[in-house]
Amino acid sequence: MGEPVKAPWTARVLTLFPEMFPGVLGVSLAGKALENGIWALDVLDIRDFARDKHRSVDDAPFGGGAGMVMRPDVLDAALEGAREQGGKMAGPTIYLSPRGRLLDQALVREMAAGPGVTLLCGRYEGVDQRVLEAREVAEVSIGDYVLSGGEPAALTLLDAVVRILPGVMGNEASPVEESFERGLLEYPHYTRPADWHGHLVPEVLLSGHHDNIASWRKKQAEQVTRERRPDLWARRSRALDEDA
Ligand code: ADE
Repeated sequence: MGEPVKAPWTARVLTLFPEMFPGVLGVSLAGKALENGIWALDVLDIRDFARDKHRSVDDAPFGGGAGMVMRPDVLDAALEGAREQGGKMAGPTIYLSPRGRLLDQALVREMAAGPGVTLLCGRYEGVDQRVLEAREVAEVSIGDYVLSGGEPAALTLLDAVVRILPGVMGNEASPVEESFERGLLEYPHYTRPADWHGHLVPEVLLSGHHDNIASWRKKQAEQVTRERRPDLWARRSRALDEDA
């Protein structure tokens, strides 16, 4: 009578370029976690769901304009395929797109807490809007710039989620000290040698005085956040005011 076996956190990826996966997620921290069964990756080739003899997945946009649009019937069949594979444990379906909600650490935590995600990667100009609505697909962007396709965005999203899954970071205790976890950027880090070509490590870090070190780091984190990310700083100040 052992513990019930927990299903791994599962990413289902729909793409025209299955060879891009696991890619960078097959090495280092994420790669080891994949090998150890902490997370699982199912990659579906969208082209396998094309029906015509040319296996076409895209067509010209209604209304004219440049580029091609991915067909709703093919995407619908691919999403159905992913749903059948995932059963009830599929998690939300997300289309990676610059039009989506900006990915942040709060959304990463939310996804990590669920059973997994199904990620739809687009190429060409985009995907037919109707299938996004009919299948209740959420849209997520990794930043205000345009990639040539959703795949690098999917890899980025998965990297951010996988590294915080229980058991992945090993002895690095908890990620609460990191950038964004407390609404602040991180304080600066230093290691040996203490004197590097005359550049010295801040004195307090050599003092062994844990309280002083903690308050120095907090001040540094606050200062760098105020200077570099006034948007984060303002949001944090509002949140602190509400708590008070
Ligand atoms: N696809 C193309 N650009 C993207 C972006 N910035 N975020 C997510 N998916 C994308």
